[in-house]
Amino acid sequence: MAQPDYVDRLDPEYSAIVAPLIEHDDVRGMDSFRHHDRTAFSHSLGVSTLAYAIAKRVRMDAASVARGALLHDFFLYDRRDGNNPRHPTRHARVALRNARERFELNPVEEDIILAHMWPVGRPFYSYKESALVSLVDKLVSIREVALLFVQTVAGLVSSLRRRLAASLG
Ligand SMILES: [Fe+2]
Ligand SMILES: [Fe+2]
Repeated sequence: MAQPDYVDRLDPEYSAIVAPLIEHDDVRGMDSFRHHDRTAFSHSLGVSTLAYAIAKRVRMDAASVARGALLHDFFLYDRRDGNNPRHPTRHARVALRNARERFELNPVEEDIILAHMWPVGRPFYSYKESALVSLVDKLVSIREVALLFVQTVAGLVSSLRRRLAASLG
């Protein structure tokens, strides 16, 4: 599967850490699932790169943060297809199962994936790295949902304008 363009622009140190994950077809396959205003892959990469940069600054386990965050939404289905009504509380467990089937994970990485939806999902964080990724995920998601809202409103306004112009014209 072709690598998205923005992968080439990643920090080399970060790239070396996540390379075994990013080279896996199923991880890059997240690029075919829509997530907020983008794809699941680009959302996960955004959470992972930001959380990694913060973890490095505050001397947390930045490598586990980078890897765990990249796999935090590795649930591998289209959440809008209506087949997963309990997605908000269940997808962290699905993501962990998928990740375990494909990669060797350490306990911090496993907890990052499993606890990232707290307080919507359980359990509570067992590591400070999990709390960091969960917070970054929420901030990144709020921004993505806000952008999606703006795009939707802009689309509605331009379609209304076109209809109005056609009816007047
Ligand atoms: Fe999630
Ligand atoms: Fe997420």
